[in-house]
Amino acid sequence: MSTYEGSFRVWRGDTGGGELTDFTVAVNDGEVVLDVIHRLQATQAPDLAVRWNCKAGKCGSCSAEINGRPRLLCMTRMSVFDPAEVITVTPLRAFPVVRDLVTDVSFNYTKAREVPAFVPPKGVAPGEYRMAQIDVERSQEFRKCIECFLCQDTCHVVRDHEENKAAFAGPRFLMRVAELDMHPLDAAGDEGLDRKRTAQDEHGLGYCNITKCCTEVCPEHIKITDNALIPLKERAVDRKYDPLVWLGSRIRRRDS
Ligand code: SF4
Ligand code: SF4
Ligand code: FES
Repeated sequence: MSTYEGSFRVWRGDTGGGELTDFTVAVNDGEVVLDVIHRLQATQAPDLAVRWNCKAGKCGSCSAEINGRPRLLCMTRMSVFDPAEVITVTPLRAFPVVRDLVTDVSFNYTKAREVPAFVPPKGVAPGEYRMAQIDVERSQEFRKCIECFLCQDTCHVVRDHEENKAAFAGPRFLMRVAELDMHPLDAAGDEGLDRKRTAQDEHGLGYCNITKCCTEVCPEHIKITDNALIPLKERAVDRKYDPLVWLGSRIRRRDS
């Protein structure tokens, strides 16, 4: 096994402020950034705060920024970096820091609660629901979400604009609205809930200008913009008034 001494700059601090601190840490073949952070804790910085759980890319806990890009610490292989490179590890920028690499992501839980749940169809018992396979597969993609909130962190609407947070649910939760709006059995309309209208008026769909940055950072490779946000825009907004709808469908056609 080969080992080298890697150079790292890790943000240390708390709600009162902080700074990047330089460390040199051994890196072994096959390791991910989280392995190195754990070695740093074990050998030089026992009080370094980092959130993690599964180390398998499934719990969504270890989200941070590596060289300024939102990523999972446990799924970022050290082999993608040059051994001579200084690797910077910082907390998610869009959310308030608790300590070191741990941020307070409660913004996301607030937004989750603001999306009304699936409304079961009347007169159909659980177990008797029937859907076309294409509808199952469409929502299956969105169900892969591990709630890492990397998409929420990278979206420029809130990344440096705290003032937009109240009116914007972010890509993860607009995707949830889209999923429910596409669901053939969702009976929200029967209850007077127009999900297309609330997407615009309450969840801030109009703030999204389909840059696809959220899609680029999603570790589950969910096509958030193409398969959730643009279709939701297409259904929610009159084409006449939203040139982005037209542009979005052009981009999708070109990609496919
Ligand atoms: S596509 Fe929309 S939601 Fe995704 S990062 Fe861009 S503006 Fe944000
Ligand atoms: S959509 Fe992707 S990036 Fe966003 S929270 Fe879910 S898994 Fe993470
Ligand atoms: S530790 Fe669970 S996703 Fe990284």
